[in-house]
Order: sequence, then C-alpha cells, then structure tokens
Amino acid sequence: MREKNIVVLISGRGSNMEAIVRACRQEAWPARVAAVISNRPEAAGLAFARAQGIEAQGLDHRAHTSREAFDAALIQAIDTHAPDLVVLAGFMRILTPAFCAHYAGRLLNIHPSLLPAFPGLHTHERALQAGCRLAGASVHFVTAELDHGPIVAQAMVPVLDGDSADQLAARVLALEHQMYPRAVRWFVEDKLQIDGHRVRQLDGASQLWS
Ligand code: GAR
Repeated sequence: MREKNIVVLISGRGSNMEAIVRACRQEAWPARVAAVISNRPEAAGLAFARAQGIEAQGLDHRAHTSREAFDAALIQAIDTHAPDLVVLAGFMRILTPAFCAHYAGRLLNIHPSLLPAFPGLHTHERALQAGCRLAGASVHFVTAELDHGPIVAQAMVPVLDGDSADQLAARVLALEHQMYPRAVRWFVEDKLQIDGHRVRQLDGASQLWS
C-alpha cells in the first residue's frame, strides 16, 4: 500500500494531533504526518510537531482580509504536502464551502459532543446545562455544514453529578485520544466506506467507544 500523506490542522494545545503522530509511528501505519499547520502561530502543538521533525507552520488567519482569502492560502499551504487526508484536530475555524469541497471525502474532524447534539462551541457547558446523562465526542467527515457530515466513530462518557465543564471535557478528551488515532488509521488503511450519511468500517470493528 502506498504511504499516505496526512496534514493535521490545529489551533492550540494539539493533544489529539500528538496522539495521532505517536500512533502513526508506534503502529507503523502506511502513512506519515507530513505537516502540522496552525491558524495561531503561537499554538503549543507546533512545538511538539517540530520536536518530532515534522514540518510545522503557523498561518495566521488575522493576516488575511476575509475568510475566503485565508482558506485559499490554507489550501495552498496544505497542498504543498500532497495530502491524502486532512485532519482537523482542535482547529477552531469555520471553513468555507470551497475549502470543504476541495477536500471532500478526505477531511476528518473531531467534535467534543455526541453529534448531531451541540454543534458549535461550549459543548460541555451546554451538555451540563441540558441535564444530559451522556456526553462524548464524534469523529466525522467534514461537509460545508458546520459539525455535520457522515459520522465515523463516537465515544460516550457518563455525566456525573457535580461535574464541572472542565471535568467533563477531560473525561471526553481521554477517549478522543483513543478514538481519533483509530479512525485516522482506518482511513489510511482504506477501511472506511461512506454510504449516504452512514460510514461503515469494512472489518466490522466497533465504531463506538465507552
Ligand atoms: C478537543 O476536545 C476537540 O474535540 C475540540 O477541541 C479540543 C482540542 O484539543 N474540537 C472542537 O471543539 C472543534 N469544534 P487538542 O488541541 O488538545 O487536541
């Protein structure tokens, strides 16, 4: 199998990116993380990537006059690396339809809720406010509609009495670090098939974490 190029986009800490980089190397995937790009040049995750010998680039969205202009520059930066897959890992930008169309079928995101519940920001606060007993995260293919698109995998955790948003976020994040590398590996090994709104794992592996 030809080695696939992965480009990871981050905005901050980059702990999901880190989990993917480590799994890719430790498990010898038929893939390499070719580059990590952040819309915030000060993002902590860029330092980790550089320390791993991965090309890391800050591309400041504030230096662009419009969302379209930034996304066009981002496409150019990403495509330098001939990506088979673009992974959004805590990338906190709304993407233009042109960007989503350009990477259709090869753009993954992780969102910290059980989609379609709570698209957008402050998911854990909103889950607590709604009195949810279950919270979690979803990995999905990206479409032009924010935090929608075919779901590859979901992780669920209980909401405990007295949880703060930070406590809930930490419980969810621990499962994100297991689920996202697995989902990315499925993609690079051609184990995912999009069937309408449903994504099938061709080996029949469980697409649910708990
Ligand atoms: C993760 O919890 C991820 O699910 C979330 O941001 C965090 C990034 O953490 N993503 C979103 O909210 C996207 N809308 P990380 O930088 O340590 O991976």
